[in-house]
Amino acid sequence: MNATTLPAGDTAALLDLGRNYYLPVYRPRELVLERGQGSRLWDSAGREYVDLAAGIAVCGLGHNDPDLHAALVEQAGKLWHTSNVFYSEPPLRLAEELVAASRFARRVFLCNSGTEANEVAIKLVRKWAAAQGRPPQQRVIVTFRGSFHGRTLAAVTATAQPKYQEGYEPLPGGFRYVDFNDIVQLETAMAAGDVAAVMIEPVQGEGGVMPAASGFLRQVRLLCDRHGALLVLDEIQAGMGRTGTLFAHWQDEVVPDIVTLAKALGGGFPVGAMLAGPKVAEAMQFGAHGTTFGGNPLAAAVARVALRKLASPQVAANVTRQSQALRDGLAAIGAEFDLFEQVRGRGLMLGAVLKPAFAGRAGEILDHAAAHGLLALQAGPDVLRLVPALNITDADVAEGLKRLRAAAAAFLGR
Ligand SMILES: Cc1ncc(COP(=O)(O)O)c(C=O)c1O
Repeated sequence: MNATTLPAGDTAALLDLGRNYYLPVYRPRELVLERGQGSRLWDSAGREYVDLAAGIAVCGLGHNDPDLHAALVEQAGKLWHTSNVFYSEPPLRLAEELVAASRFARRVFLCNSGTEANEVAIKLVRKWAAAQGRPPQQRVIVTFRGSFHGRTLAAVTATAQPKYQEGYEPLPGGFRYVDFNDIVQLETAMAAGDVAAVMIEPVQGEGGVMPAASGFLRQVRLLCDRHGALLVLDEIQAGMGRTGTLFAHWQDEVVPDIVTLAKALGGGFPVGAMLAGPKVAEAMQFGAHGTTFGGNPLAAAVARVALRKLASPQVAANVTRQSQALRDGLAAIGAEFDLFEQVRGRGLMLGAVLKPAFAGRAGEILDHAAAHGLLALQAGPDVLRLVPALNITDADVAEGLKRLRAAAAAFLGR
């Protein structure tokens, strides 16, 4: 299958539009994607790519999944938008299905993105603490260095990485940071009894694809219980099947109070959700929060199908199978070129950490990868991040690894 090939001049003109008219907060690769099918993409010049990026861990079912497509088209012929002053069926059903799937939640707030899901989670923590009579200085939220929770002002303050915060001061107060996987630091940070919640990614994504150490989330849960704090899990990147179970924290055997979702929940259609457990489900009442677009019928119709498919045993089995294949392939490439210090992650959320000799050069390797027909991501300057579709095939994984090997050889001038 070929994409409609644009004349080279047209592609150049499109790239110029991005340079001239976008707020220059991104530095996209110099190509214009036009069409996708499964784990393959085609650009406006007709070049084909293996996609191990999946729209930053969003397209969990690949591109142009027939069931998602059908759900979107069917809903598009019925009703696009009602706002939240009227009900429509798809978001009502989605809320019920998310509660059932989550095994812990009582209520759901539907929104449009990850940062918005975290924003309402932060607000819910504060409302819950306020309702308990805690003064503002006793509503601290602890987060972890290397975390990423989004770009709104509260979410970026929760994001314990100075590079995302610089220049946006004054930042909202009431956040405290500790090192990831360091239970002693967390214990110290909670000792004063002023912590209302601990917010954590089961696998840090943007911060370098770093999983929580075995048993860490259970220890965090115990500390939260001891100090009367809530456990908020940001599963925006790690959730929806990516780590091999529908919710990443199932593998950690903890019950959270709040979970945030977005990314793969809509399979590529923008949607986010904040799931609230019994302790907090009634803490926000009429007028406490809102959004015009959240729970949009189009997004919800697609998300219902995505949720059903991503929760299937077939997807879970494929995640395990392809995770092993990618790990084996990355290990072989790493050994051949002495390139990787470590391959880490869970399921299909994998990071290949560059050896110190190649520190800071992940972007260069990705340039070579794109030139060899492979799209992947980085997580910081030293980590190649692979977050493909969860239904990626054996053939696409094999071809992706072949192209990555060629890219590594080109990067090293071999
Ligand atoms: C763990 C995590 N939380 C929150 C976000 C923010 O999501 P969004 O970009 O949809 O606002 C991201 C995005 O990368 C993420 O990975």
